[in-house]
Amino acid sequence: MQQKIVILDFGSQTTQLIGRRIREMDTFCEILPYNKFPKEDDNIIGVILSGSPFSVYDKDAFKVDLSEFVGKYPVLGICYGAQLMAYTFGGKVEPAGSREYGRAHLQYFEADNPLFKGFEKDSQVWMSHGDTITQLPEGFHAIASTEQVKNAAYANPDQRIWAVQYHPEVHHSLQGFQLLKNFVVDICGSRQEWSAASFVDTTVKELKEQLGNDRVILGLSGGVDSSVCATLLNRAIGKNLTCIFVDHGMLRKNEFVKVMDAYKGLGLNVIGVDASAKFFADLKGVTDPEAKRKIIGRDFIEVFDAEARKIKDAKWLAQGTIYPDRIESLNITGKVIKSHHNVGGLPEEMHLQLCEPLKWLFKDEVRRVGRQLGMPERLVKRHPFPGPGLAVRILGEVTPGKVRVLQDADDIYIEALHNYVCEDGVALYDKVWQAGTVLLSPVKSVGVMGDERTYENPVALRAVTSMDAMTADWAHLPYDFLAKVSNDIINKVKGVNRVCYDISSKPPSTIEWE
Ligand code: XMP
Repeated sequence: MQQKIVILDFGSQTTQLIGRRIREMDTFCEILPYNKFPKEDDNIIGVILSGSPFSVYDKDAFKVDLSEFVGKYPVLGICYGAQLMAYTFGGKVEPAGSREYGRAHLQYFEADNPLFKGFEKDSQVWMSHGDTITQLPEGFHAIASTEQVKNAAYANPDQRIWAVQYHPEVHHSLQGFQLLKNFVVDICGSRQEWSAASFVDTTVKELKEQLGNDRVILGLSGGVDSSVCATLLNRAIGKNLTCIFVDHGMLRKNEFVKVMDAYKGLGLNVIGVDASAKFFADLKGVTDPEAKRKIIGRDFIEVFDAEARKIKDAKWLAQGTIYPDRIESLNITGKVIKSHHNVGGLPEEMHLQLCEPLKWLFKDEVRRVGRQLGMPERLVKRHPFPGPGLAVRILGEVTPGKVRVLQDADDIYIEALHNYVCEDGVALYDKVWQAGTVLLSPVKSVGVMGDERTYENPVALRAVTSMDAMTADWAHLPYDFLAKVSNDIINKVKGVNRVCYDISSKPPSTIEWE
């Protein structure tokens, strides 16, 4: 039996973080829409109710039948989850006099309550709510207070309910991880058995059962998710997996050859298709970013389909979809933030079933699984790279010549990120979520080289820190690093005479320039 914590999502921006924290304590958890509590599931050991943008008395507030789980499992309410339970059981929730937001300290907490095991006096917590619980229902009592908030946490031991009005999942709640661990491990009894090794064992077994002797097709992109997915499937079904890697001509310098070699080294059965001529021909004269994306998407599907059709008896299409892709697609507030990147478009008549073995994993877990499978570190740690590749990093028309210039500049930048080791021993490359170079081809500026005047393009360097690409901050790269990269690019790459560093965060900018 695989123990599981269910997190009911009431629409808070930090629900995913709760999930990540629980996985960090080697416990499996599933984030479900607030009204989709599973009817029959013997694996559940506890339930967490997330925060929400709503007030409990809003007319559209998300409500649930608490009897589906209260009394059956230990329950932890967070913020709105705490207010919802207090309100539903007959307590009072009212608008807070001033919005309770930011740092606060637990001036009092019930020291012998298992939720606060290991807590220090005045532990810092992070508040973010417009309402507050002014009166607790019968049978409930306060177990912690801050300067402003009397019922900062409460419990009902008979019904095995615990709740906090602050956000233990965010880093600003300094003992937040401890609190979640106290709940998951001590109160719910997690055996902490969820690990990359156990994931590989169970998934390989399940894939063998699910796929039997069927043939499976998978589109490789060179990225971490599809590569880990392929390696996992290879472990389960070996040669029955056929991978297709399409080179659209806009990959990084020597990427196609390097990645093909890495895949072969992993024992994967890969068909590499060089379709760059077709892509460049179709992109000729096109400058609009959306039109570029559409052409690349369409061409990719055409090339992939043509190869996939050659594998006559294929029954499955495997994809490296990961958990955040699905949570975002399922977002309960109805707003699609990022559309689910499917290979998509495979003709219906091929009747392929979808196989997505990584669909429960967060990005860092995918990397752990990759390591567990013995994949090379360079492949496992790769930064995300957009499907349309350098085409969205060349402003305006894409030509093979511009791609070569950008590849050369980008290669200098990325290699330098790998080679620059910080004081803590970690390479700069591993400190950033994603980095890349952008060719500002519609812009030309004057420079001087030797005695010659130059009139060439600038490139912009981009590096961001992020958890999931939904928001990102520009990375504060050291000046000496930037100085060296700029110098190397301008001296070595013909066609570039100026280097800029992009200091925009997302939002309001995006990571890619197009
Ligand atoms: P933005 O530019 O929207 O990028 O901040 C967020 C993340 O998504 C990647 N990205 C793409 N990935 N196809 C992809 O597979 C695309 O068309 C695409 N556009 C952006 C981007 O590199 C970043 O990691």
